[in-house]
Amino acid sequence: MTEQTILRPHAEQAFAEELKALAAVDERPRPASWQLSPWAVVDYLVGATLPDRTLITPKYIGSRRLMEIAVASLATDRALLLLGVPGTAKSWVSEHLAAAISGDSTLLVQGTAGTAEEAVRYGWNYARLLAEGPSEGAMVPSPVMTAMQQGRLARVEELTRIPSDVQDALITVLSEKTLPVPELNTEVQAVAGFNIIATANDRDRGVNELSAALRRRFNTVVLPLPASAEDEVRIVTQRVADLGRSLELPATEASAEIARVVTVFRELRSGITEDGRTNLKSPSGTLSTAEAISVITNGLALATHFGDGELGAAELAGGIVGAVIKDPVADGVVWAEYLETVVKQRKDWKDFYWACREVQ
Ligand SMILES: Nc1ncnc2c1ncn2[C@@H]1O[C@H](COP(=O)(O)OP(=O)(O)OP(=O)(O)O)[C@@H](O)[C@H]1O
Ligand SMILES: [Mg+2]
Repeated sequence: MTEQTILRPHAEQAFAEELKALAAVDERPRPASWQLSPWAVVDYLVGATLPDRTLITPKYIGSRRLMEIAVASLATDRALLLLGVPGTAKSWVSEHLAAAISGDSTLLVQGTAGTAEEAVRYGWNYARLLAEGPSEGAMVPSPVMTAMQQGRLARVEELTRIPSDVQDALITVLSEKTLPVPELNTEVQAVAGFNIIATANDRDRGVNELSAALRRRFNTVVLPLPASAEDEVRIVTQRVADLGRSLELPATEASAEIARVVTVFRELRSGITEDGRTNLKSPSGTLSTAEAISVITNGLALATHFGDGELGAAELAGGIVGAVIKDPVADGVVWAEYLETVVKQRKDWKDFYWACREVQ
C-alpha cells in the first residue's frame, strides 16, 4: 500500500516542530494547563526567531497587540470572541490559539442553525442507554465537556448561527464553569485551563443575535481587513506558498500577479482606485483575502496542469471574475465599469484586460 497524505493536518501537527522549539526555550510562567506562556503563544502566532535561530513562521500577519489582547483574555475567566468580516483569519487564528495553548485544536463545535444542545453539553449512545440505562459509559461528551474535563480550549465556530436556546447552554458553562448532568445526578466541573474561543462573522448575520447575557461573558477582538496592500500581498504570498506545497504545485514566481489581484480586490472593496483619483462602485461580495488566496491558487493549478507553468493574466481572469460577480446583474455592471474605466487605461494591464474580456 502506498503511503497516504493527510490533506490538512491540524495546526498542532503541522507546526509540531515549532511548538516544541518554543516550549524548550520558554521560561516565562505558564497559566495552569497551558503548554506555553502567553508570550510564547503570541510569538507562535506572529512569528519570531528563537535564540538558537529556530525560525517561527508568522501565522497571523497583522497587529501583534491584537494577538496579545486575545491571548491575555484566554488567560482570564472570560471567553474570547473573534469577530470580523469573512476571510479575516478568525477560524485560522482560533485553530492556532488552541494548538499553541492546549496542544489540541480539535475540540470543535461547528455552529449552524441546526446545532443542538448535545453539541454544547452531552448526548447519549442510545444502544447503551437502552441496555444499561443512563450511565457514564452511555454518555457522549461534547467537545465543550471534554475541554472542561481536560482543562483545554474548546472552539465554537460561527457562534451567531447557533439557535439562541443552544447558545444559552453556554452561559452556565461560562459563568459557573460547571455542566450539570441531572440524569446521573452529577456534574462536570471545569479544570483550570478550560476556556472557549468563539468566532462570528459580522457580515452574514449580526452579532446582535448574541444574547446580552452571553456577550457579557466574552471579550471581543475584532480582526480587521489587512491594513495595507503590502500586508495583504504578504498574507496571500505566504498562504499560496503553503497551499502550493501541500497541493504539490511547483513553486512559481507569482509576485507580480499576486500584487495585481490584491490591487483589484482592494480597489473594488474600498470603492476607490489606488491613486485616489477614481471612485468605483463596490460589488456585493466581500472580496476577502481568503478569496484572493484561492484565485491565485486556482490560477497556479491551471498554469501547472494546462498551461506552460507560468502564472499570467489568462489563468487569473476566470477566478477574479467569479469572485467579483456574485450577482450576475448588479455586479456585472460594477465589473464592466471597472474594466473599462480602470483596467483598460493601465498600460501594463492590457493582457489582463483582454483576458477578462474573453471570460465574459
Ligand atoms: N491577517 C492574516 N494573516 C494570516 N492569514 C490570513 C490573514 N487574513 C486572512 N488570512 C488567510 O485567509 C484564510 C481564510 O481565513 P479564515 O477561514 O480563518 O477566515 P474567517 O475569518 O474564519 O472567515 P469566515 O467568516 O468566512 O469563516 C486563511 O487561509 C488565512 O491564512
Ligand atoms: Mg471561519
